[in-house]
Amino acid sequence: MSAQIGVTGLAVMGANLARNLARNGFTVALHNRSVSRTDELLAKHGTEGDFVRTESLQELVDSLEKPRRVLIMVKAGAPVDSVVDQLVPLLEEGDIVIDAGNSHYEDTRRREAALAQKGLHFVGIGVSGGEEGALNGPSIMPGGSEESYRALGPLLEKISAHVDGKPCCAWIGTDGAGHFVKMVHNGIEYADMQVIGEAYDLLRSGAGLEPAEQAKVFSEWNKGELASFLIEITAEVLGHVDERTGKPFVDVVVDAAGQKGTGRWTVISGLELGSPVSGIAESVFARALSSKAAQRVEAQELLSGQEADISVGEDFVEDVRQALYASKLVSYAQGLDMLTGAADEYGWDLKLDEIASLWRGGCIIRAELLKEITKAYAAEQKPSNLLFAPAFTEAIAQALPAWRRVVATAVQLGIPVPVFSASLAYYDGLRRKRLPAALTQGLRDLFGAHTYQRVDTEGTFHTLWGEDQSEIAAVDSH
Ligand code: 6PG
Repeated sequence: MSAQIGVTGLAVMGANLARNLARNGFTVALHNRSVSRTDELLAKHGTEGDFVRTESLQELVDSLEKPRRVLIMVKAGAPVDSVVDQLVPLLEEGDIVIDAGNSHYEDTRRREAALAQKGLHFVGIGVSGGEEGALNGPSIMPGGSEESYRALGPLLEKISAHVDGKPCCAWIGTDGAGHFVKMVHNGIEYADMQVIGEAYDLLRSGAGLEPAEQAKVFSEWNKGELASFLIEITAEVLGHVDERTGKPFVDVVVDAAGQKGTGRWTVISGLELGSPVSGIAESVFARALSSKAAQRVEAQELLSGQEADISVGEDFVEDVRQALYASKLVSYAQGLDMLTGAADEYGWDLKLDEIASLWRGGCIIRAELLKEITKAYAAEQKPSNLLFAPAFTEAIAQALPAWRRVVATAVQLGIPVPVFSASLAYYDGLRRKRLPAALTQGLRDLFGAHTYQRVDTEGTFHTLWGEDQSEIAAVDSH
C-alpha cells in the first residue's frame, strides 16, 4: 500500500498531525530518527487509521505515492536543514517537502529557492492550535508555490479546523508567506495575552478582585464581544487552585514569562518593514522585563512608586473590559497592517479576509471578533487600516472614554499597562492632525542636514542653521 503523505519527526506535534491525517482517511507513512518513537505511536494509536511504518528516510520516500509529500516536524532552525539535506537526494522532480514547524520565514524563503532549483517544492506551513489543535483540527497557513497547494491543499483542508463549514486553511502566498503569517499570528497572540494580563492586574491590584472572582468575570466576558479561546482559558487558569498549597495557581507560578522567539521575530520584522507594531513590541518587552529577576528585586528596594491614593469606582470592571477590547483591536490592526507591508515588500498577494477567516478556528487567537474582521476585508471597499472599517471605528469610539480612564487610573496607581497605553498612543498618533515629527525633522536637519519637506511647497529643503538661517533647496536625504 503506498501512502499519501509521510511524516518525519514524531514528537507530539508531528505525531498528532500524523494521527489527524490518518483519522481523516489518509494513509500516512511514519518516520522518526529513533524507531522506538514510531513504534510507540503505532502501539498506542495504530488502529486510528492506515499507517505505514518505516525505519529510514529512504524507506519513507519509497512508501509514498507520487508526487511525494513529506511533512517534516522537527525543531525550527538547523534540524530542518539537516532533514531537508538528507531528503533531497532521495526525491524526484515535483515532490513536495513540507515544513510544519515554527520556522523563520527567511529560512523558508531560502529553502524554497534552493529546492526550486532542483525541481522540488518546498512548502512552509504555519500550524496553530498547539497539541490539541494538531490532533483535532488546527488552523493552517501554507506558503510555497500555488502548484504545490493543488497537490497538498485537499489534505490540509480536510485535517484543519472548520468554521461555518469552511476549512481554516487556505493558500497564503508564495515561498515564506505561510510562515510569515503564522509569525504575525504569534505576535498578535503575545499582545492578546499581555492585554489579558494587564486586565487581570488592574482587576486584582486596582479593584481587589481575587483570581477566583476574576475567573467568573472572564467567563462572563467570554459571552460577549471578547469571546475567544484566550479569554476562555484565562477563566480556567484563574479559577485553578494549586493542589499543594490550596492557593490560587497564579500565585504559585514564577512571574517570569518565557518565549521561544516568534513574537520577537514579529517585532524585528515590523521594525524592518517600518510597521508600527507597538502593542506587539510592548508585549515582547513585557515578557523580557518580567524575566529580569535580579533587577526587579533591586528595584523593589530602590525605586519609589508614589502612587496616587485613589480608589476605583463600581464601573471599573466594565471600563477594563472595554479597554481590553479596544487594545485587542489595535493589536489585530497592527498585525494586519504589517501583513500589508510585507505583501508589498515580498510580492505576496495576501488576502486579509481569508487570513482572518482561517484564524477563526483552530488557532490560539481564534475569536468572535475575527468574523467581523473577515467581513471588513471581504467588503468591496477594503479599509487601509482595520480601525477604519465602520464597525470598528464605531466600536473604538464607544470604548474610548473607558479606555482613557483605565490608562489614566493605571498610571496613577502605578500599575504597568504597556500594551493598553501603547495601543492608545497608536490610536491617538494615527488620528492626530499634526504630530511632533515636524520638530524631529527640524532637529535632524539642524544637527545632520538631513533635510525636510514643507507643508506648502513641493521639494526637499535644508535650513542653513549655522549661517544666516536661510532655506535652500536640497537633495532628499530622508
Ligand atoms: C500556536 C502557538 C504555538 C506556540 C508558540 C509560542 O499557534 O499554536 O503560537 O506556536 O505556543 O511556540 O510560544 P512562545 O510563547 O514560547 O513564544
